[in-house]
Amino acid sequence: MAASVLVIGGAGYIGSHMVKMLARSGDRVAVFDNLSTGHRDAIGGADFVEGDLRVRSDIARAFAGRQIDVVLHFAACCYVGESVQEPAKYYANNVVGTLNLLDAMREAKVRRLVFSSTCATYGDPVSLPMAEDHPQQPVNPYGMTKLAAERAMADYGRAYGLGTVALRYFNAAGCDPEGELGERHDPETHLIPLVLREALRVRAGGNPADTQLQVFGDDFDTPDGTCVRDYVHIADLCAAHLKAMERLSGGGRCGFEAFNLGTGTGYSVKEVIETCRRVSGQDIRYRISGRRAGDPARLVAGAGRARGELGWVPEFNDLTAIVATSWGWFGRLSP
Ligand SMILES: NC(=O)c1ccc[n+]([C@@H]2O[C@H](COP(=O)([O-])OP(=O)(O)OC[C@H]3O[C@@H](n4cnc5c(N)ncnc54)[C@H](O)[C@@H]3O)[C@@H](O)[C@H]2O)c1
Repeated sequence: MAASVLVIGGAGYIGSHMVKMLARSGDRVAVFDNLSTGHRDAIGGADFVEGDLRVRSDIARAFAGRQIDVVLHFAACCYVGESVQEPAKYYANNVVGTLNLLDAMREAKVRRLVFSSTCATYGDPVSLPMAEDHPQQPVNPYGMTKLAAERAMADYGRAYGLGTVALRYFNAAGCDPEGELGERHDPETHLIPLVLREALRVRAGGNPADTQLQVFGDDFDTPDGTCVRDYVHIADLCAAHLKAMERLSGGGRCGFEAFNLGTGTGYSVKEVIETCRRVSGQDIRYRISGRRAGDPARLVAGAGRARGELGWVPEFNDLTAIVATSWGWFGRLSP
């Protein structure tokens, strides 16, 4: 059945792909965003409320006059390095902003929430693959603020009847397979866009030897020495949100549940670069730099729970297919 959905942070990378998918499935969509990292042109004709989650009257305005069935909460600050330098910004946005949202939902009597959480809530892996019952011991303020938000949702569930599905993404990757939406972070810290931007530079006549692309460490305990991560395609992430919405609408479920979103397969940094080289046809080179503080060798999802309980089956299981959708977007840009 069609739902009325409020998408917080809907103008961002993942949120904008979600808005498109919701509109396709016939749901009514309103977007709330302060455009701090999002793009107004990424949400098409969706009903748009410009506002900041840190301002309670702004978020109250998004509920006023709208009958909302479910909220999808994508808005956050999400740079791990920055969160170490500027924790205040992360606590204000990711914790206080989220509490403002939960209180506005209480007031508006909206009881269903799907939350964009992260594998950063687990911290360093003590076992692999990482399942939902892996200890949650974040090693940076970004992960800590996301965990604090999860805990608040669980407490609001017990006390006020809020039903939350938290989806803990591993590495979100890829772009709209139809090429209409892309990944536009500034600064960009994600590997695939960084590598494809290097491909654009070379394609435009830049000397491959002048590359600024850095690989942080090639002496990890992995087959080729570079870090291994689990890349999950954005269309699969969005499809999981639809499954989470269905779960919340069935039988007035309340309380807190969390599901990992990953494919369960890891690819190394070198494998990603090689795939980008093949897909783009460009001579992409890189420099080896020292390890970054706090980068674990491997992060791979145990995603059996999302398959078993949400019925979520990722369609993009192959890195080449994921990168091809990114190149479908980046390949049309100039460097
Ligand atoms: N990209 C990934 O690989 C990844 C991995 C794990 C989890 N996540 C989570 O997924 C969510 C979306 O990530 P993304 O990559 O699309 O990020 P993004 O920066 O592209 O999108 C975030 C959106 O939220 C908006 N926003 C931020 N603060 C706001 C505020 N105070 N009020 C209103 N709007 C605000 C931004 O303008 C932007 O449109 C985040 O919560 C992030 O923590 C992302």
